[in-house]
Amino acid sequence: MRIALSTGGGDAPGLNAVIRAAVLTALDLGWDVLGIKRGYAGLLGEDEVIPMTADVVRGIAHLGGTILRATNRGNPLAYETRRPDGSIEKVDRSDELIENARKMGIDAIITIGGDGSLAIAQGLFRKGMKIVGVPKTIDNDVSGTISTFGFDTAVSTALEAIDKLHTTAESHDRVIVMEVMGRDTGFIALHAGLAGTADVILIPEIPYDVQKVCDKVRARDRAGRRFSIVVVAEGAFPRDGEKSFRAAAAPGEKPRLGGIADELAIEIQMRTGKECRSLVLGHLQRGGQPTGYDRLLAARFGGAAVRAVAAEKWGHMVALQSPHIVYIPLDDVLREPKRVDPGHDVVLTARSTGISFGD
Ligand code: F6P
Repeated sequence: MRIALSTGGGDAPGLNAVIRAAVLTALDLGWDVLGIKRGYAGLLGEDEVIPMTADVVRGIAHLGGTILRATNRGNPLAYETRRPDGSIEKVDRSDELIENARKMGIDAIITIGGDGSLAIAQGLFRKGMKIVGVPKTIDNDVSGTISTFGFDTAVSTALEAIDKLHTTAESHDRVIVMEVMGRDTGFIALHAGLAGTADVILIPEIPYDVQKVCDKVRARDRAGRRFSIVVVAEGAFPRDGEKSFRAAAAPGEKPRLGGIADELAIEIQMRTGKECRSLVLGHLQRGGQPTGYDRLLAARFGGAAVRAVAAEKWGHMVALQSPHIVYIPLDDVLREPKRVDPGHDVVLTARSTGISFGD
């Protein structure tokens, strides 16, 4: 048996721990393992495919990033190719990819990625590729799994930042607005916000009214709490408005979100007269050492993915449904993205402990 591993989309802490566990589990079964560099680029002749030996994965479990590299611009079903005139066209290179995999003797692929990479996996599976998925995203927005690795690390990074902002905000009687990642979901903002006892949490699932945010800031002022911490997901938006974008979409990419923290800080300062500051935590949340929780989950996913291959669970994804790792069809995973449920106990507890969602 010869399998190949691929890591696609934005990176997440824990990728290397998945790679290590998958490689060692497969080697333990007497299989051959290859690593496809930069998503699928290695299989399209645009990068390498490397042998994955025990030596290659030695000492990597605690490292952020991915030794296989990643890209969010390498969809083989719509591969961006530059025409001679400089314009971009999208070409379906999946047949070429499957043929190259066959030539290299690859029997199956384990792809480690978020919703985009899992949709590509489903496309390749439909074209006959034997493929198993491993969910990865700091946003935690993949359905069917209680958690994705990388999320806990991102929450820890955000939490550390909230703790630090508290002391400086309090010293200066300021409102500090911190923007965290979360394109379409507010899991990072919600979990870090509750754990860090933020005063306001704004998430895409609960559109906000800036007046309500200011009411909370003023109420705290009246109670002698002259500072406030607002945690906002990059994809949050006001009831009567739109998401904030930092840049238009580059070819093949989604438009870049960002700027909501700056906008809110200006708005809150104008309306309340309080001194406001803003901070965008950005890619800090994607880097660094994975937490113990993420390293363990990543290792479990890596080992289970190899067992899914052994069980011929093609077109399935490994998922955490505590206390077990299960295999679920990609069709089910991709039917609906995972979002924060406004009736979830985390939201209810945040509300009952005085956190405002600006609604
Ligand atoms: O998909 C995870 C994510 O962290 C999103 O929350 C964020 O919008 C995106 O990645 C940013 O990714 P990049 O800067 O790599 O395009």
